[in-house]
Amino acid sequence: MAIAIVTGASRGIGLAIVKRLTAVGITTYGFARQFDTCDLESDLFHKVICDVTDIGELCVAANQIIRKEKRIDLLVNNAGIGVFGPHDTLEVSQIDKMVRTNVTAPFILSSQLLFWLRKSSGTIVNIASTSGFKVQPQGAAYSATKAALLHFGECLFEEARKQGVRVTTICPDITADTGFYEQASFEPTENEDTYILPGCVADAVMNVLHQRPGTVISQIVVQPQRFQITKRQPSS
Ligand SMILES: NC(=O)c1ccc[n+]([C@@H]2O[C@H](COP(=O)([O-])OP(=O)(O)OC[C@H]3O[C@@H](n4cnc5c(N)ncnc54)[C@H](OP(=O)(O)O)[C@@H]3O)[C@@H](O)[C@H]2O)c1
Repeated sequence: MAIAIVTGASRGIGLAIVKRLTAVGITTYGFARQFDTCDLESDLFHKVICDVTDIGELCVAANQIIRKEKRIDLLVNNAGIGVFGPHDTLEVSQIDKMVRTNVTAPFILSSQLLFWLRKSSGTIVNIASTSGFKVQPQGAAYSATKAALLHFGECLFEEARKQGVRVTTICPDITADTGFYEQASFEPTENEDTYILPGCVADAVMNVLHQRPGTVISQIVVQPQRFQITKRQPSS
């Protein structure tokens, strides 16, 4: 039976991916710091409380799954946070947390699981962002973390392809119905052609998995038809 690990599985894009995976019978371990608002209950979904910025906790959680299942077929490095604004207004702790969540955690989890992914001819999917290749103000640190993840995926694919491991980077643009913009000063607009939805990214993951053996989709960009964002209304 196929075994997947998805980080950032409690809501948004990660939860949409878990829903697709469990719907096709894939046993999925989802990592997040809490699952209080997560509406998915399934025998195939194992909720793992894990702060991915705590390297010790992350490695213990991964090793426990390996010890139990003795295989891993899919790793989705999805957990991510974005803090936006002029770079010198970001707090030191925010920058540190963003780098540890968006970059360090996927690098380490991939290294911990590669042995098992080689054994299963498995797949790593990194959820980066269009910010990883677009130049944009007020998001220098976030964009750089996503550029790092994007380049990491490209290099890792070259390294691991001869060993049968598929590595794919998905770059979503503005995605609505997530918690991502809760702290930001902007958010997706109401116009439905100006955002994509978590399910669109989950569909892209399934498309990667459905390729014939020997074919790898190494990069996918998912964007809305039009670019438009709106200033966020302060919550009352
Ligand atoms: N939304 C967009 O417009 C957009 C666009 C491009 C790329 N992305 C990327 O897509 C990914 C998913 O974002 P989303 O939009 O679905 O945001 P979201 O709704 O805020 O979900 C983020 C997920 O990551 C988890 N997470 C955050 N910090 C964590 C930590 N330290 N340890 C464990 N889990 C952690 C959250 O769970 P807990 O808070 O419970 O830990 C949550 O499950 C991110 O990598 C983001 O950069 C998003």
